[in-house]
Amino acid sequence: MPIRRPKIALVGAGQIGGTMALLAAQKQLGDIVLIDVVEGTPQGKSLDILHGGPIIPTSSSLTGSNDFTALKDSDVVIVTAGLPRKPGMSRDDLLEVNFGIIKNVGEHIRKSAPNAFVIVVTNPLDAMVYAMQRVTGFPAKRVAGMAGVLDSSRFASLVAAEIGVSAEDVRALVMGGHGDTMVPLIRYCTAGGIPVTQLLSREKIDVIAKRTANAGGEVVALLKTGSAFYSPALSAIHMAEAYLKDKKNVITCAAMLSGEYGVKGLYSGVPVVLGGGGVEKVLEVELDETEKKLFDVSIQAVKSLCEWVDKKMGS
Ligand code: APR
Repeated sequence: MPIRRPKIALVGAGQIGGTMALLAAQKQLGDIVLIDVVEGTPQGKSLDILHGGPIIPTSSSLTGSNDFTALKDSDVVIVTAGLPRKPGMSRDDLLEVNFGIIKNVGEHIRKSAPNAFVIVVTNPLDAMVYAMQRVTGFPAKRVAGMAGVLDSSRFASLVAAEIGVSAEDVRALVMGGHGDTMVPLIRYCTAGGIPVTQLLSREKIDVIAKRTANAGGEVVALLKTGSAFYSPALSAIHMAEAYLKDKKNVITCAAMLSGEYGVKGLYSGVPVVLGGGGVEKVLEVELDETEKKLFDVSIQAVKSLCEWVDKKMGS
């Protein structure tokens, strides 16, 4: 068999989908297909990026389709199909409508791309990735959700701006569900290896932690017509790259827990090793009593959404 380029399918050619197509082409991750229900959108966006190919430069091919058979033999499928939030809405308000979409998309992925690594971006994230794993029946290590990587990046970017240092030097860890109950682990945040607790006052860090938990809402309120898309696209492509290049990156994402952190059978944002085997390992970091309590609250919020999904799926 001749070696072939990886195939990356982006289901949902909206704000995040279109941005991911550009990023994946820039990184030359493979051939890219955009799929959407709206006629012309995936075709138009892929053609637009293709026209810039010589300037990027890239050898990735870009196509668009309204037909789910275009998923065929994809190595990575990133799903953003669904509705985004509007001002005043919480991510959980999207549950019912986006569940129907994820169920439909998941059935197509199961049939057409049975070996793919699936990254779910659609909100409410933890429940949608849980539903995707149930619908596809794929091993949990091949179905992950994009959340913690974005939440951690948001926290780190705000810390970097507050200290006045380069964002690339700051590392942060935000665990738990992708919602108001996410848990920024302040003592694991470092700038060039130095704990930020030595560089910023506790009050300032607490303000940043709160702003992080509401960061998505802050962008929604400013945009008014949709939700954040540049940083979510960057985060999902970061995950896809870790998988396709077997990088074994330590990335926080929504992963299925099977006993880690005392949780079984639910998805939540935890640090994992992401490589060619998908979610190769869930890393268990030490949590103090307060952090554990906050994590448990976050898990309870995810649990009630997953129970709703279970009911809808008839078990
Ligand atoms: N199959 C394929 N695509 C679909 C389907 C479906 N069944 N239903 C809707 N879509 C498409 C829409 O036509 C739209 O182009 O999904 C796309 C979503 O794009 P946007 O509305 O621009 O939303 P975006 O900002 O990309 O966010 C997508 O990610 O972060 C989450 O909360 C966000 O749930 C939202 C999702």
